[in-house]
Amino acid sequence: MGRAFSLPSGGTRCSRPGCRPGRATGCRAARRSTPTPRGTLAKASNLAEGPDSARLSPPRQGDPRGGFGGGPPRGSQAGMSLGRQESAGGRESPGTVGHPTGARSRAQALEDADMKIGIIGAGLIGGTLARRWVKLGHEVSIANSRGPDTLRELAAETGAKAVTAQEAARAGEVVVVTIPQKAVPELPKDLFANVPRDVVVIDTGNYYPVRDGSIAALEGGQVESEWVASLLGRPVIKAFNNIFFQSLLEKGTPKGTPGRIALPVAGEPPEARAKVLKLVEELGFDAIDAGSLADSWRQQPGTPVYTQDLDAAGVKKALAAAERSRLPEYRDGANTWLKNFLASQGG
Ligand SMILES: NC(=O)c1ccc[n+]([C@@H]2O[C@H](COP(=O)([O-])OP(=O)(O)OC[C@H]3O[C@@H](n4cnc5c(N)ncnc54)[C@H](OP(=O)(O)O)[C@@H]3O)[C@@H](O)[C@H]2O)c1
Repeated sequence: MGRAFSLPSGGTRCSRPGCRPGRATGCRAARRSTPTPRGTLAKASNLAEGPDSARLSPPRQGDPRGGFGGGPPRGSQAGMSLGRQESAGGRESPGTVGHPTGARSRAQALEDADMKIGIIGAGLIGGTLARRWVKLGHEVSIANSRGPDTLRELAAETGAKAVTAQEAARAGEVVVVTIPQKAVPELPKDLFANVPRDVVVIDTGNYYPVRDGSIAALEGGQVESEWVASLLGRPVIKAFNNIFFQSLLEKGTPKGTPGRIALPVAGEPPEARAKVLKLVEELGFDAIDAGSLADSWRQQPGTPVYTQDLDAAGVKKALAAAERSRLPEYRDGANTWLKNFLASQGG
């Protein structure tokens, strides 16, 4: 039986692939577990990106993961309170997570904080982005595979609007697709039909064969986000794929903070990339222009930049250090790590 843990929605599920909280078919661990207090992630862990750091040994240089790992960053804490991010009044100032005194001008904050954002996927990353963006003043619509009724708790807690995937795709100027890779081909074929071409689509996805099964195109070397873009029929911007959700939730800091975590953003067109770079900065991270989607293999699972919480200089160095010939090795390392983790949990 897999270990139960809490979700950003405050619900619970176990660490077994496929366990879906609230579903009649969900495993007993998920149905039995007592939800943690609302707004608290206790012992949070993730199927794809790794368990809490208490179980992690720091990745070593030269290990099969390329020395940079596939799990959460060193020093992450097992438990945390979402409330820690809130500034007075419950709303964050853009780029000032938990540091209201480092705020940019109020005028600048208001100018930035009025975007309509759709999120397809309401799990660890989707739920985290929804929380963060609502607090920053954006209007967020969020969807999962089971329908808006199953997202009532998350909606009530975060202020995001629960919608269908089709509605999320039409929700505004930015749409985030944040679901397991294996689910991308299952999305409605007309998901982006009649959605204006200037709507920016963000892909946070990572391919883990142990979770997603074998996907021939990706095993054959296609860049993961290019594969997603081809299925969606839209260009995508790759972002947020290389940060553990817990870091995304609580490690944003004001611009200029020494060691501020940096995140790569890749994809075309440049105007779309620029919009996402701005969103990354607003969330409290240095945004690194990582160029074209064709180069986004440099931030795939197990690469040097993956889940390391590096600063700007570190991210640039890590992106440059990635070697395309080692991609299968990077992936194997990340995948093996996840497989071992699941086995250790009895999954
Ligand atoms: N977790 C992390 O720390 C992290 C970090 C960076 C990147 N990523 C990547 O980001 C992606 C999402 O990760 P996650 O950890 O947030 O996943 P997750 O917690 O497993 O949540 C997945 C979400 O996707 C939804 N979904 C699945 N199929 C769908 C469909 N056909 N239509 C609409 N929604 C669908 C699920 O809804 P139902 O429950 O209703 O099926 C669920 O809300 C993955 O590719 C992951 O590798 C994760």
